[in-house]
Amino acid sequence: MKIERIKNERTITDKATIDKIRADFPILGLQVSGKPLVYLDNAASSQVPQAVIDRIVRYQTEEHSNIHRAVHYLSELATRQYEAARVKVQHFINAKESREIIFTRGTTESINLVMHGYGRAFIGKGDEIILSAMEHHANIVPWQMLAQEKGAVLRVIPMNDAGELLVDEFEALFNEKTKFLALSHVSNALGTINPVKRMTAYAHSHGVPVLLDGAQAAPHQALDMQDLDCDYYAFSGHKMCGPTGIGVLYGKAHLLEKMQPYQGGGDMILSVTFEKTTYNVIPSKFEAGTPPIMAAIGLGAAIEYLSGIGLDNIAAYEHELLEYATEKVAAMPGVRIIGTAGNKAAVMSFEIEGVHPHDVGTILNSDGIAIRTGHHCAQPVMDRFHVPATARASFAFYNTRQEIDKLVEGIRKVQEMFL
Ligand SMILES: Cc1ncc(COP(=O)(O)O)c(C=O)c1O
Repeated sequence: MKIERIKNERTITDKATIDKIRADFPILGLQVSGKPLVYLDNAASSQVPQAVIDRIVRYQTEEHSNIHRAVHYLSELATRQYEAARVKVQHFINAKESREIIFTRGTTESINLVMHGYGRAFIGKGDEIILSAMEHHANIVPWQMLAQEKGAVLRVIPMNDAGELLVDEFEALFNEKTKFLALSHVSNALGTINPVKRMTAYAHSHGVPVLLDGAQAAPHQALDMQDLDCDYYAFSGHKMCGPTGIGVLYGKAHLLEKMQPYQGGGDMILSVTFEKTTYNVIPSKFEAGTPPIMAAIGLGAAIEYLSGIGLDNIAAYEHELLEYATEKVAAMPGVRIIGTAGNKAAVMSFEIEGVHPHDVGTILNSDGIAIRTGHHCAQPVMDRFHVPATARASFAFYNTRQEIDKLVEGIRKVQEMFL
């Protein structure tokens, strides 16, 4: 079936449009430390527009009930809205069928679900799992737990000094023991956009299934599961203008069908006796218990909001912001940008010579500027670049060049204080 993708209604081209977009986000009007908030921590969690807040309030005030379990008005309404949100996700990522969309708590739970449901059933002693050197801990630790349990082995794709994966070395890792590839689409610590379509095709040429961690890609670029052809794709609602507590696992139907359930309980069964349980069909098989109904509906509203602006517009505008910021910050003496890949999303990790990143974050905060400092749940990346931590500014489509100017001024102030 050909899926109708949601049409874009506006483009981000001028100040008036950006002002209008910013007005959609009540929190952006906040004062922090007596200064207007400059929110540059979008890779950790993005902000929520009024349309999503309103949708959540409407659900809680007019539509709330438990789903799938009753014939009364509210239960049917809530069920319809929850399932409509699933279809919105399906269209958003161009999945073939809505039953390929599983609602989870977030990227972390989505990856753990695959590790338990697929990994524990199909990966055994001596088998090899390929990861990359730039993974978030959420895409390392579950596989490490599986490897420990099963006696499997983790193989790691190395990267160069720009933070780009070495594709030749990636290809050389494959052999007859390779059973799985788990790879980030976009690195949260470096901003690198990996050539995931090509890498997926290569893994498939060896019969190896592929999970892509799309936590940092889904909010910032148009996605097409049928074109990417990955087997699993994971992302989180709270990084894409939705609420916390909701995420998505996309999986190809034939793989989801042969996987073991992740959790047992209500809704994931067809029948239960003390002797035997028959599991429900997908996606219910993976949604045990009462799901995050409100958050799923909120995610549906976030998807409508993002689609109204247009993911291509978002990607283009954020790229402009990244180029502007990179040019300014790279020109500052004593500042090093970490992650200089040719193909990057709007994430800028940096260090200031002689200043611990936590001090950078604290001083910027005193001017109302929110960035993230630390290892970004990617300690192997920090080890690779021989730093304990970085400062990271990450941009969204509601940020402006003026905010980047304030960041640059803030960095200058930090340098003056530590001279
Ligand atoms: C690349 C990447 N993967 C996974 C995660 C984990 O996402 P969540 O905490 O929403 O489960 C994050 C969050 O920062 C991330 O950036």
